[in-house]
Amino acid sequence: MSIDLLLGLQWGDEGKGKIVDVLTKNYDIIARFQGGPNAGHTLKFDGFSHVLHTIPSGIFHPTALNLIGNGVVIDPVIFQTEIDKLEPFNIDFPNKLFISKKAHLILPTHRLLDAASEASKGKAKIGSTLKGIGPTYMDKTGRNGIRVGDIVLPDWKDRYENLKQKHLKMLSSFEGLIEFDLAALEEVFFKAIEELKKLPFVDSENLLHTAIKEGKKVLAEGAQGSLLDIDFGTYPFVTSSTTTAAGACTGLGVAPNAIGDVFGIFKAYTTRVGSGPFPTELFDEDGETMGRVGMEFGATTGRARRCGWIDLVALKYAIRVNGVTQLMMMKGDVLSGFEKIKVCTSYKTKDGSIKHFPFSIDPEHVTPEYIEMEGWKEDLTELTAEDQFPKAFNDYIAYLEKELETPIKIVSVGPDRKQTIFR
Ligand code: GDP
Ligand code: IMO
Ligand code: MG
Repeated sequence: MSIDLLLGLQWGDEGKGKIVDVLTKNYDIIARFQGGPNAGHTLKFDGFSHVLHTIPSGIFHPTALNLIGNGVVIDPVIFQTEIDKLEPFNIDFPNKLFISKKAHLILPTHRLLDAASEASKGKAKIGSTLKGIGPTYMDKTGRNGIRVGDIVLPDWKDRYENLKQKHLKMLSSFEGLIEFDLAALEEVFFKAIEELKKLPFVDSENLLHTAIKEGKKVLAEGAQGSLLDIDFGTYPFVTSSTTTAAGACTGLGVAPNAIGDVFGIFKAYTTRVGSGPFPTELFDEDGETMGRVGMEFGATTGRARRCGWIDLVALKYAIRVNGVTQLMMMKGDVLSGFEKIKVCTSYKTKDGSIKHFPFSIDPEHVTPEYIEMEGWKEDLTELTAEDQFPKAFNDYIAYLEKELETPIKIVSVGPDRKQTIFR
């Protein structure tokens, strides 16, 4: 009786969507537990490439049920666009996609507040995806939010108006920073709300308890990454939800003792999109090569992702905070051709060399310290089994496993579903 979790261990975009899609065949239910359309999860198969933002990555499987949990924030407009884009796949949505009544709604004014807040910060901006995530979670914890279950209540429009008026007052203090046509935004929003009503709204915690009791297998899909967690990430350059394992408990209503395996997913190097410290970031040709070969552009915003070497200090921290039981290493293929591969094993600080993740990883406080390993020349993208790995690649994997004290069970060598090697 358990639920497995799959979480990103870095700053997001580790390849969560790809692996959830690959693993769905082993599960009855795939459940998203936090975040919202700031996420962009890419799936590739049969020559298609598809990006999901709110919909769980099990949606292409013929029978698995996909659940959007209470911890998620939903923008009905983006959600509708996602549903429309899936039309060619003939998915039986009302039977395959359920939404928690307790999930909060992103209103058009939440997005405006996000944009205004970022514009007001100037150089100190978070680099938000501007999807209204922060303001929506603020209203949730401020006890002002509107939930999916509210939109079928007779007074829903009054609740909407009240919250909108509050937001307009707040927006007036940002006068001149952003321009908007709220009437146009609302027209699209209310249309999308009617579409949202076509899907089943459920007490998702109850659905999950029953399913787990019946022996059904559940996989919880994380969004963002551990270093973007509201508590354990590089605050304030984080997102507004609990992206770490505890977020699955609060975002789905499952107890900690119901959690089985925790799959931690990481890239063979590191990327970050948006602002904030990134000790191993590269500003040279190596970083440029990672970005180009890895096609490191945000799946949600199209922004170029910052690239750098793998950081074991940060990874060990994320593994501990999440209680990771198995690792999955993505994008090793991108490192083919590097003469030497660097691995950050500690940070130099004014108090000497440290191996734990400190309060601040700003450049004035830490400098990464590296060991160097041999690179490999071989193309990995056609490989189908571990025994075909070049020696230097095997050495890299073995070193990471030893340092991280956790087995690497999946090695991904390309974006396609098929380019996945189990160990
Ligand atoms: P997510 O947000 O964690 O689901 O990850 P994204 O979809 O935002 O970013 C991962 C990107 O890497 C996508 O473009 C994937 O198609 C791609 N990708 C995933 N695994 C691999 C891999 O092993 N090798 C390569 N080259 N690309 C991969
Ligand atoms: P997936 O699920 C990478 C980053 C943004 C910004 C910060 C706050 O695809 O891995 P927000 O929109 O939440 O206010 O942005 O978090 N960010 C992500 N970076 N992948 C994501 O999701 C992200 N979601 C948010 O770039 O720095
Ligand atoms: Mg992504």
